[in-house]
Order: sequence, then C-alpha cells, then structure tokens
Amino acid sequence: MDFEQLIQHRYSCRKYSPDPIDDQVLEKVLNAARLAPTAANMQPFQIIIIKTENKQEDLLKIYNKPWFVEPPIILCACSLPDQAWVRHKFDNENYAIVDVSIVVDHITLQAADLGLGTCWIAAFDPQATREFLKLPEEVEPIIFTPLGYPLDEPQEKTRKPLSDLIRYDTW
Ligand SMILES: Cc1cc2nc3c(=O)[nH]c(=O)nc-3n(C[C@H](O)[C@H](O)[C@H](O)COP(=O)(O)O)c2cc1C
Repeated sequence: MDFEQLIQHRYSCRKYSPDPIDDQVLEKVLNAARLAPTAANMQPFQIIIIKTENKQEDLLKIYNKPWFVEPPIILCACSLPDQAWVRHKFDNENYAIVDVSIVVDHITLQAADLGLGTCWIAAFDPQATREFLKLPEEVEPIIFTPLGYPLDEPQEKTRKPLSDLIRYDTW
C-alpha cells in the first residue's frame, strides 16, 4: 500500500476477531511507535501491551464497549510529562500529548498496513485505568487502542472539505 492508500484505508475498527497476532507482526507495530518523532527526541512515552484473555471484565470497567475487549491485544499509550520537552522559553507548554499522539498515529497506520484494525479511544475512565494498570502518579494514560484483525468494513470517510480547514497567510 502506498501512503495515500494507507491513510484512506485506516479507519476506526469497532468489531474484532479473537484471532491471535503473530509476535513478529506485533513487533512491527511497536517498532513503528518507537520510530515516531518526539519533541527534542525526548521519547516521553510508554506503550502498555495488554493481553485481553481472562481480563475482559476488568477492561470493560475502563471502556464499556463489547468490541473493546474482542481482540487479543489492547495497547495503552501513556505519556511521561516529566520527561517531555517543555517550551520553557515562552509559555511552559508541555508537548507530551503531542508526542504520544504521533506515536499512536504511527501505530494505527502501521497496523492498517499489516491488515490489523485499531481505534483511538480517549473516552476511557482514567481512574479505573490507573488502578488496573497500576500506573505511577507521573504516568498519564492518553489513548487506548484495541489491536486485532477486523471483522467490520470501513465506512465512507466523512470529512470537512479542505476549504473549511485551511487558511492562507493569516487567520
Ligand atoms: C483523539 C481521538 C480520540 C478518540 N476517541 C474515541 C473513543 O473514545 N471512542 C471511539 O469509539 N472512537 C474514538 N475516536 C475515533 C474517532 O471517532 C474517529 O477517528 C473519527 O470519527 C474518524 O473516523 P475514522 O477513524 O474511521 O477515519 C477517537 C479518535 C481520536 C483521534
């Protein structure tokens, strides 16, 4: 798949097969995360790989959609804000969430290229997540994604026209 096809092909999958994912395939997905650019190359993130087997009941307390726990694996992308680049010189903006977002974009695109489905999930319960994953205080869960072979089909992409999304030169 060339890049243009890949970004068309990736979609939010909400029905998964329980089929296992080969270790080498999983490694490719994780390596795509590793190669993501981060501000000042600080790499302030951790990916937690959760095997869903026998954990479905607890996982549904984190995000209560049956398809969340269908695949063999769920990934949780976490930020480490204390390790992230901060725009100290001007306004102390911390870029940890931007870094993690790029990481997750790499994951979802690499997964799509390998025939795997993903879905960005932000509407999870952060407190249930902290407890289940035993997160230290300095770690922030940012995005979950199921990772598995899709059993649904992509919907047509609904996007604003480019003319609604861009401006030239000034606001
Ligand atoms: C930051 C972010 C958070 C999201 N959170 C959720 C979520 O909690 N639950 C969900 O079903 N989809 C979630 N989505 C998926 C979006 O609804 C989806 O990407 C969007 O509708 C476009 O559809 P597509 O991914 O199929 O192209 C999220 C997407 C992003 C980028």
